Amino acid sequence: MSSTLLPDEKILIIDFGSQYTQLIARRIREMQVFSEIVPCSLPITELTAQKPSGIILSGGPASVYQKDAPLYDKTLFSLSVPVMGICYGMQLICHLMGGKVAQSSHREYGRARLKIQDAGDIFQSITEETEVWMSHGDKIDSLPDGFEAIAYTHNSPAAAIRDPKRKIYGLQFHPEVVHTVEGGGILKNFVYTVCGCKPSWNMGVFLTEAEQKIKERVGNGQAISAISGGVDSSVASVLVQRAIGQRLHCIFVDNGLLRKNEAERVMETFQKNLGLNVRLVDASAEFLSKLSGVTDPEKKRKIIGETFITVFERESKAIQGISFLVQGTLYPDVIESVSQKGPSAKIKTHHNVGGLPERMHLALIEPLRLLFKDEVRKLGAELKMPSVILDRHPFPGPGLAVRILGEVTPERLTRLREADAIVEEEIRAANLYQSIWQVFAVYLPIQSVGVMGDERTYDNAIAIRAVTSKDGMTADWARIPHEVLQAISTRITNEVQGVNRVVYDISSKPPSTIEWE
Ligand code: XMP
Repeated sequence: MSSTLLPDEKILIIDFGSQYTQLIARRIREMQVFSEIVPCSLPITELTAQKPSGIILSGGPASVYQKDAPLYDKTLFSLSVPVMGICYGMQLICHLMGGKVAQSSHREYGRARLKIQDAGDIFQSITEETEVWMSHGDKIDSLPDGFEAIAYTHNSPAAAIRDPKRKIYGLQFHPEVVHTVEGGGILKNFVYTVCGCKPSWNMGVFLTEAEQKIKERVGNGQAISAISGGVDSSVASVLVQRAIGQRLHCIFVDNGLLRKNEAERVMETFQKNLGLNVRLVDASAEFLSKLSGVTDPEKKRKIIGETFITVFERESKAIQGISFLVQGTLYPDVIESVSQKGPSAKIKTHHNVGGLPERMHLALIEPLRLLFKDEVRKLGAELKMPSVILDRHPFPGPGLAVRILGEVTPERLTRLREADAIVEEEIRAANLYQSIWQVFAVYLPIQSVGVMGDERTYDNAIAIRAVTSKDGMTADWARIPHEVLQAISTRITNEVQGVNRVVYDISSKPPSTIEWE
């Protein structure tokens, strides 16, 4: 069971598998109208139960005339709710309503000039000839009854279509991508004018509604939350605390794999500054003894995940009457699990606390499950949370254990902590922290020869990893100025015992990953 917080007015996007589906949702939310993505397998009765103000059919990789192409129930078009199909979505409208879609001899990818034939309606205030982004190999041979073409490109005589009576629209191009110069205007015309939505959704509104719904759901009950110091669990907890006060019990587990002074800093911020009911549990000895002698990265992750569950379960049993567990699940994870994407290879186990709610028989509260990461930061700002939490770089659940190659030992942890703190200090001092996705030190358990004074050394190496990224899925190494790298290197070799070499990682993801393990 999970809580869903839904505003009244919204646009539903039916996902046919386009890489841009999330972008459509974001564009509409940027217009201050709530939008949500639903899988194309969602029964129409469930779709109508959500009372959408408008429906968008996304693009997708299939062709409508293929045997297993994803379709949708035709009654969608008689609901008296405006519909807009984008790319595959437009072809689907034609296919389902009696038109004809066929493979095109001229595939159209990239930029194209759109010429508008009817300047009203969804093209109101849009330039007569405007640049759009195309990505399709199919064309419309004949339009269904009641439809007319309202714009064309060199290769597509029907690049935009409509049935004005039923308010059904189709766009062959992608209005949601930035390359479609006036795409935002076209979407606005659909959302505001055709669907009649008002720009009324914002984080303040979300916050008020979320708080109310959490209050109703929890009643007089008690909830528990695991604070990691990261943005998601922090914002989720502060939000729930606002709704139920001290009946939210937060637990912060020190697993011995945290950064320098992190436990103190987290406690200071959450307990003192934000007034959370939070308890620090020092389980570092337990974690480190279980990790002793373990070198395999997946084994380390597994041990850390399991130990966390054991500790958290033990601690929560000490509190009477807990029936809810707060989790900071975000929208991309929710979409990922509902959109039935194909199986993908497991690169790393990222589920830090997987299986916790089932094991503990707790109902889940996931107050962020409809938000994107940047929206969570906005919500945090609305909750008056400090930027040291909201702008912090992501830090993996298994902590420094995946940044020490091979066995995790107290000595290695101390060295890595010192080196990592220097990296962060210098990057902040150079004003680079905000423009970088993640920057950190990695401990390499290899020894190399060096010279200090007149002495030969045979010590370990530290790698610096700094990447730029939008979502962590792909990444490029950050072009940090040489002087900054120089300052980091000098300080690490001077200040960190046992390290005589610093190297800079210049690999992108793929083929590397961001973390080294
Ligand atoms: P990779 O190393 O897979 O990391 O390129 C992508 C992003 O995920 C973070 N990461 C993790 N986060 N638990 C987490 O919560 C994990 O086990 C984990 N492993 C990697 C990583 O820091 C980067 O932001």
